[in-house]
Amino acid sequence: MNILGIDLHFGSQDAISYSFCLMSKDTVKVTQENVDVPTLIEFMSSSEVNVICVDNISEILKVEPLSEYLLQSDIEVRLLTGVHSNSQSVVDVARQNGISLRKKPDSLKTAIICAQLAAQGMAITLVRNNGKIGFEHQIQMRSTNQILTAEKLPGESTHREAHAQLDSSVYIKSIRQVVGYGKESIVYHAEGLQHPDLIVKIFRTYSSVARAQKSQIHQAKINHMPLFMAKNEIKYLRQLAQHHFPVPKPYFLDDNMVGMEVITLDGELAPTLAEFSRGNHQLDVVEDLVYTSLEMLQDMFSQPKLVHGDYSANNLLVGDSGLVIIDVAQTLQINTNTFTTTPDRIRMDDALDTLFRDLHGIITFFEKNFRIHLERDTIFEEFSSVVPRTFAGQVEFVLAGWSEKFRYS
Ligand SMILES: Nc1ncnc2c1ncn2[C@@H]1O[C@H](COP(=O)(O)OP(=O)(O)O)[C@@H](O)[C@H]1O
Ligand SMILES: [Mg+2]
Repeated sequence: MNILGIDLHFGSQDAISYSFCLMSKDTVKVTQENVDVPTLIEFMSSSEVNVICVDNISEILKVEPLSEYLLQSDIEVRLLTGVHSNSQSVVDVARQNGISLRKKPDSLKTAIICAQLAAQGMAITLVRNNGKIGFEHQIQMRSTNQILTAEKLPGESTHREAHAQLDSSVYIKSIRQVVGYGKESIVYHAEGLQHPDLIVKIFRTYSSVARAQKSQIHQAKINHMPLFMAKNEIKYLRQLAQHHFPVPKPYFLDDNMVGMEVITLDGELAPTLAEFSRGNHQLDVVEDLVYTSLEMLQDMFSQPKLVHGDYSANNLLVGDSGLVIIDVAQTLQINTNTFTTTPDRIRMDDALDTLFRDLHGIITFFEKNFRIHLERDTIFEEFSSVVPRTFAGQVEFVLAGWSEKFRYS
C-alpha cells in the first residue's frame, strides 16, 4: 500500500506548495519539498497512491484542483489530528505515539509523521458524500443543505471539546449523529444511560443575538455564556412543559450540555417546520400549522409570560403529535409589575418588541413558503389584546414602530 503524507509548505494565494512523503511497506520511498499543486497531483496519479494523510483537512480541501482531484479519485483521505480530545496538533499525536520532537516540526517532517502514523493506523478515514469530504458524523447530517463543506467545518477544537465532553459525561453512552450545528451549539442524537435515545445540545460560544437580548448581563464573562445559555434552555423547557406546551421532555443539565427527548415523525427525527414546508401539503394541514404556531406564541405570552425570542420555522419541529417548540435558551421572562429590567426579567416594552418581531417573522415565513396571505393587522390586534391594560400605551408605541417597518419591508 502506498501512503502519502502531505503538509502545506507555503500557503500564499498565488504560490501554494506542499511537502510530501511517500511510504510503501513501512519505508520512506520519496520525500519532496515545495512542490506546486499540479506537480503534486501528477505525482499522486503516477505513483499509485492509495491513501493520503494530512494534519489539517482545510489545507487540502480549500485548494480546488486538489479537492476536485481527490473527490473523483478513490484515494482514501485520512486525518491525523482533531479526532481525539487529546490530539490537538501533530506534535501531540507524534508524542503520544513515541515520536520525540523538540520543536514544532517543519512541513516536510510533518508530512513524514503523517505518512508514518497513517501507516500505523493512527489516523481516521474521512468519507465522501454529495461532492464533499468530511467526518462521517458531519456528513450524516439529515438535511442535505446542512452538510458541512470544508470551509464550514466547525473549528476543530470545538468538535474535539464537544466529543471529549460527551465521552466523559455520565449521561452519555455513545453518539449516533450530529443533527444540528449552529453558531451557539452543536446538537447530537445520542444514546444515553438512563435514556436509550436522546438529544444532547452542547452550548459553545457567545452569540451576538443573545448578547443583544441579554444586555443586562453584559458584564458576564464570555466563558460563562455557554453555561448560562444551557441553564436557560433547561429552565424554559421545564417551565414550558409544566404549562403543557409541546416541548421535548427535559432530561438533564450537565455543565453546558442539556439532554432532552428526541422528537420524531414516523420513526425518523422530526423535520423542522422549514424543512417540512418544502413538501406538498393540503391547505387544512397548513392552516392548522399557522393557527397552532400563532396560538402557542400568544399563549406563551399570556400565561407563563414568556417571549421565545427566536420563534422561527427552524425552531419549530413537526413531530408525530404536531408542532413542538425547541431552542428556548434565549427565551425571556416578562416583568409585568414594573417598567424595569432585572437580571431575569425584561420590561414590557422590550418584551413586546421581541414578541412582535417573532410574530412578524413567523407570519412572513408562512406567506412566503405556503403562498398564503395573513391579515397582519388583525393578528397584531389579537395579540395586543392579551397584553395587560396597564401597558396599553406601550403596545401602541411598539406597534407604531412595527407598522413603519412593514411599510418598507
Ligand atoms: N429534541 C429534538 N428532537 C429532534 N431534533 C432536534 C431536537 N432538538 C434539536 N433538534 C435538531 O437540531 C437542530 C438545532 O437545534 P436547536 O435547538 O434549534 O439549536 P441551535 O441553537 O443550534 O439552533 C434543530 O433544527 C433540529 O433539527
Ligand atoms: Mg435553532
